[in-house]
Amino acid sequence: MKNPEPCTLVIFGARGSLSRRKLIPALYQLERSGRLSADMILVGSSLEAMDRQAWQDEVVSLLQARDPVGANTPTLERFRNRLHYHRIDPEQQESYHALQEKLEHTQGFPANMVFYMAVRPADYPGIVEHLGQSGLLNEKGGWRRVVIEKPFGYDLLSAQTLQAGLYRHLDEPQIYRIDHYLGKGTVQNVMVFRFANLLLEPLWNQHYVDHVQITHSEMHGIEGRADYYEGAGALRDMIQSHLLQLLTLVAMEPPVSLSAEHLRDEKVKVLKAIRPIPQNAVHAHAFRGQYASGVIGGESVPGYLEEPGVAPDSVTETYAALRVYIDNWRWAGVPFYLRTGKRMAENSSAICIRFKSPPQDLLRQSRHGPPQPNWIMLGIQPNDSLRMEMQVKMPGLDLQTRTISLDATYRQGEDADYDAYEELLLDVMHGDHSLFLRMDEVEAAWRVVDPVIKVWSMERDFINSYQAGSWGPRGTYRLFSRDDQFWRHSLDPDGADLQPY
Ligand code: BG6
Repeated sequence: MKNPEPCTLVIFGARGSLSRRKLIPALYQLERSGRLSADMILVGSSLEAMDRQAWQDEVVSLLQARDPVGANTPTLERFRNRLHYHRIDPEQQESYHALQEKLEHTQGFPANMVFYMAVRPADYPGIVEHLGQSGLLNEKGGWRRVVIEKPFGYDLLSAQTLQAGLYRHLDEPQIYRIDHYLGKGTVQNVMVFRFANLLLEPLWNQHYVDHVQITHSEMHGIEGRADYYEGAGALRDMIQSHLLQLLTLVAMEPPVSLSAEHLRDEKVKVLKAIRPIPQNAVHAHAFRGQYASGVIGGESVPGYLEEPGVAPDSVTETYAALRVYIDNWRWAGVPFYLRTGKRMAENSSAICIRFKSPPQDLLRQSRHGPPQPNWIMLGIQPNDSLRMEMQVKMPGLDLQTRTISLDATYRQGEDADYDAYEELLLDVMHGDHSLFLRMDEVEAAWRVVDPVIKVWSMERDFINSYQAGSWGPRGTYRLFSRDDQFWRHSLDPDGADLQPY
């Protein structure tokens, strides 16, 4: 693909954790791969006063700390020369006028501009309003695009209000609502796996699938983000966005093409087909928990309530699980279980699909224990993998069966290793919306979780806790629709994952 047109990329919240951990490293990775336009300019913007050189030094040390060998080259010098800094006070219109002066009148700054909101969600509307008032969003002489990080709003109503604010200054094609999961190669592989392999299509429906599990677990805690996390919680932070997006990719019908509109048309149909959870059934469909202290990787870690910035009586969930049904022909009656948690036993994201048992149990006499169903498991991270569990006869004179796992790690040694943001940043610069959310998708996703949010926000007195380093609260098992269903904790066919804990 051609390199994008030159542009000026402004990151609001340039010194914050998203920018430092994801955006700057991803931009540098694009630099190393020669994918940035030679004239592109990167403007970091933040509340603190700082001159250009100090910002350049800060970025360079950040990159060197991540990769001491790779980050000391002419490439780094080229990247450094792209960097500029502009202090902004989010409340002060004057600082936006100064920004406008700088961006539109500095020699060498391209007229195409991207404004990236790497700030607290509460700050999006104000920044866009100020940008609009300063004229920076008018597409005179070049395009102007705004990237909005998730969560887009904190419920349906606030998402719609935010949207109305954006439309005062922006047209839809200028807005890029990001869900970085869609930029992960392994997530895109879910589509390839389904639509490039005819073998699976006849099985991919309620006749053969018993249930689907989508898990994202993390060993780390909130990493100093109490300010954001206290108001978000796991349901908004991960399920409303990333996990529901994964669900759409697993469940959607084949799109007419992979164009942005066709793809999003199919995803939104899935979200709209999710059966609404009535408020009086929330406890049967959703479970929340909060981590207590524990041990992870041999080290003691504090509980959520001991994290800096967390209220001592907080009931913010750091673990959330949900059971949903998709009421359409393909998926009628098949439960989809989604769960996510911080300070869990492993870092793992995976989609596990369990198939039904054969209609007649011919091997009942020769088997110890219940029948073992087939599973297909797509590991998303830390390792991309594809596993299929099947039954085979054990060698020997008796007709006994055993589970084997057909494993394919599809990454090969020389394959490029990109995080999600490289591709998404390039897409914004190219003007490709395929991997960004359309407003109707965002609204449909809020409709799924809103009833749960409402009930949980009224229950301020109690939240289940789980020990840091465990697989979450025990009560979560009540979400399963049958006794023979259980969480797949790891993709390994033996041992621990077959046990509930
Ligand atoms: C972010 C959430 O969107 O995704 C974080 O705000 C979470 O809480 C992160 O840790 C997980 O993303 P990844 O790419 O590290 O799996």
